[in-house]
Amino acid sequence: MAKEAAHSDPSSEVRPLRRTLSALNLVALGIGGIIGAGIFVLTGHAAAANAGPAVSLSFVLGAVACAFAGLCYAEMSSTVPISGSAYTYAYATLGELVAWIIGWDLILEYAVGAIAVAIGWSGYAVSFARDFGVNVPAEFASSPLVYDSGRHAWSATGAIINAPAVAIVIIVTWLLVIGIRESARFNNFIVAVKLTVIFLFIIFCAPHFSTSNWITASNPQGYFIPPNAGQGVYGWSGVIRGAAVVFFAYIGFDAVSTAAQEANAPNRDMPIGILGSLVVCTILYVAVGFVLTGIVPFDRLNVPDPIAVGIDNAGVGWLAPLIKLGIVFGLTSVILVLLLGQPRIFRAMAYDGLLPPAAAKIHPRFHTPHVATIASGAVVAVLAGLLPIGLVGELVSIGTLFAFAVVSIGTLVLRIVDPELNRPFRAPAIWIVAPLGAATAIFLMFGLPVDTWVRLAIWLAIGLVIYFGYGAKRSRLALAG
Ligand code: ALA
Repeated sequence: MAKEAAHSDPSSEVRPLRRTLSALNLVALGIGGIIGAGIFVLTGHAAAANAGPAVSLSFVLGAVACAFAGLCYAEMSSTVPISGSAYTYAYATLGELVAWIIGWDLILEYAVGAIAVAIGWSGYAVSFARDFGVNVPAEFASSPLVYDSGRHAWSATGAIINAPAVAIVIIVTWLLVIGIRESARFNNFIVAVKLTVIFLFIIFCAPHFSTSNWITASNPQGYFIPPNAGQGVYGWSGVIRGAAVVFFAYIGFDAVSTAAQEANAPNRDMPIGILGSLVVCTILYVAVGFVLTGIVPFDRLNVPDPIAVGIDNAGVGWLAPLIKLGIVFGLTSVILVLLLGQPRIFRAMAYDGLLPPAAAKIHPRFHTPHVATIASGAVVAVLAGLLPIGLVGELVSIGTLFAFAVVSIGTLVLRIVDPELNRPFRAPAIWIVAPLGAATAIFLMFGLPVDTWVRLAIWLAIGLVIYFGYGAKRSRLALAG
């Protein structure tokens, strides 16, 4: 039934997405999705609580973990250049059920990621507006609900809705509906702004770098790696815990793979987009982490705006409004890239009959998956207006790491079952890279709290109920078999 519907609806299959993205657009898309709340917020937390000045090493470790999975994503995206990302790769290698599980899991990375970043965007936008004398009333700028993980209970905060978070999601969704080229242009502009802001930070703050800032109560000798003070608190274990915390900062490079059907030359350009954006962001992250901990003692960085604290301490406070504006812009493109990815994954799932065929529809004029884009945007907007950031933020990393592990395993499986397949990009030393990709992702997952694991399990269980209630009976495979 669903299959017939999908086939008889020309808008779902015959009409393709429009190929307009160059390699440079794809690198910009990756950078647009990567640089966001992670570097601008979590760096401070990881430095203060886990790694000290060695937070730059945590960024190196995080990048190494992402590089293994990134190489696997690059190989898969050049070999199977379809827009469903990890879902498509799992479908091609590990079968429909695993693919469904990953597709369902990716909602945590993309839709829930967009919710988390939209809430963060609201915080920065409200603070930026306040600097210019515009006050958004608190009851319209924060979550009406708060979750107490100690009591496992929700309670009301007195606020009504986080209106700026809802507004930014609606604006971004509108942009994504009207066109991929328009979205890419807007993204390129934002990426230029955010790179400029990061360069300004590095250029103006680096001259104030001093290793005397490495000296704190917990690091009286001023070591680069402060002495260990418990599991995950400074020392090497702190550097590793810091890597798990800042992993969030790297999420987004894989989103490039959701634009495979809109790339001019996907086989060549997808690996460039994925690996290129990862390399650029790694260099910037290591530099920012190093400079930040050299201009302010790390024990003062456990704040929501660590970059602003660093700038103040270095005596270049005049940079603060510019940096805040850059961050507001920067978070916008993260939301954009995540909300660009989600409907394209839904589209691929609907194409295979695992979701209702409407989700595969392409707009006759805009050539975008408008139904899936509007549906994703609407749910994300409502939840961004209602939920607190802590709860949603935790889920994003575990969902992404799970997908990384499956893509790494899938890449190796495909090499084994179909060694002759044309692979425009081949990950080097696959027998080392793929197992390490899976192992590092699982290792970082173990760094996350038990509560987060439980939520992942509940989410996946809900997904299985939906699969057996809908997709398993209506999928292409079920109908063909
Ligand atoms: N990497 C993205 C960020 O840091 C999700 O905001």
